[in-house]
Amino acid sequence: MTSKVAFITGSAKRIGACTAKRLHKAGYNIVIHCNSSVAAADELKQTLNNLRPESAVVIQGNLTDYEQLPSIAEKAKSAFGRIDVLVNNASAFYPTPIGTVTLSDWNQLIGSNAQAPLFLSQRLKDELTMNNGVIINMTDIHAAKPLASHTVYCMAKSALVTMTQSLAKELAPNVRVNAVSPGAILWPEQPLNEDDKNQILSEIPLNRLGTEADIADTIHFLITAPYITGQIIAVDGGRSLGATSKA
Ligand SMILES: NC(=O)c1ccc[n+]([C@@H]2O[C@H](COP(=O)([O-])OP(=O)(O)OC[C@H]3O[C@@H](n4cnc5c(N)ncnc54)[C@H](OP(=O)(O)O)[C@@H]3O)[C@@H](O)[C@H]2O)c1
Repeated sequence: MTSKVAFITGSAKRIGACTAKRLHKAGYNIVIHCNSSVAAADELKQTLNNLRPESAVVIQGNLTDYEQLPSIAEKAKSAFGRIDVLVNNASAFYPTPIGTVTLSDWNQLIGSNAQAPLFLSQRLKDELTMNNGVIINMTDIHAAKPLASHTVYCMAKSALVTMTQSLAKELAPNVRVNAVSPGAILWPEQPLNEDDKNQILSEIPLNRLGTEADIADTIHFLITAPYITGQIIAVDGGRSLGATSKA
């Protein structure tokens, strides 16, 4: 039997890498995608191939470069000759206080978080339709309740939420399209101060950060849930419910 194939963008490290390992464990062959983290991607490929020979490949490309998207999609498809799952995980994340926003910020943040997911989905829709495939988009609880000074990032994730719902209608019944909306899982790569970390923790009813495995398990669940489409599943320890105070 031919193994199913999952293509996960931005999967060299962190949540993407954990998702790659989770889906690999479930039997998928994995197309690992990276941009700058080539060494980490190669190491992950090696780890997965040691567990099951010829079950993982790496493709590299900059998702904010529109001209590269067709070849990234094509390389992903030809790696194992099929794609069953597309996880739009890659993301740029940084503040853009109003007054400082540049066209380059717009291109980085909209390009990685919204434009690339749209055009990769479009490129791969026939393949996914043929395979009764699944698209999972990684959004953010701040798509609905914006994070101060992150207007462009929040706009991008908000567009990705709408794209999830819209493509769920348009690609039904053959392709299901859902999103996972993480709360605070890993601290961002740009360091936060202790006060900011404590403030975030105080807003989480379950009183802890989530884990990469919490997200990867939810992605796996959505891939295997045949009657769920167009849904945005918050995995945030209850943070999106609002204030934790009992007053
Ligand atoms: N971490 C959290 O707590 C959290 C919270 C809410 C939402 N999320 C969402 O969950 C997903 C995973 O989160 P994460 O923290 O693991 O992500 P991350 O580490 O911030 O980013 C994942 C990968 O995206 C890739 N990427 C960024 N810009 C790119 C570009 N122009 N072209 C190609 N790849 C690009 C990077 O690949 P290279 O390293 O190879 O350059 C990076 O390793 C993201 O969509 C994020 O927005 C995460």
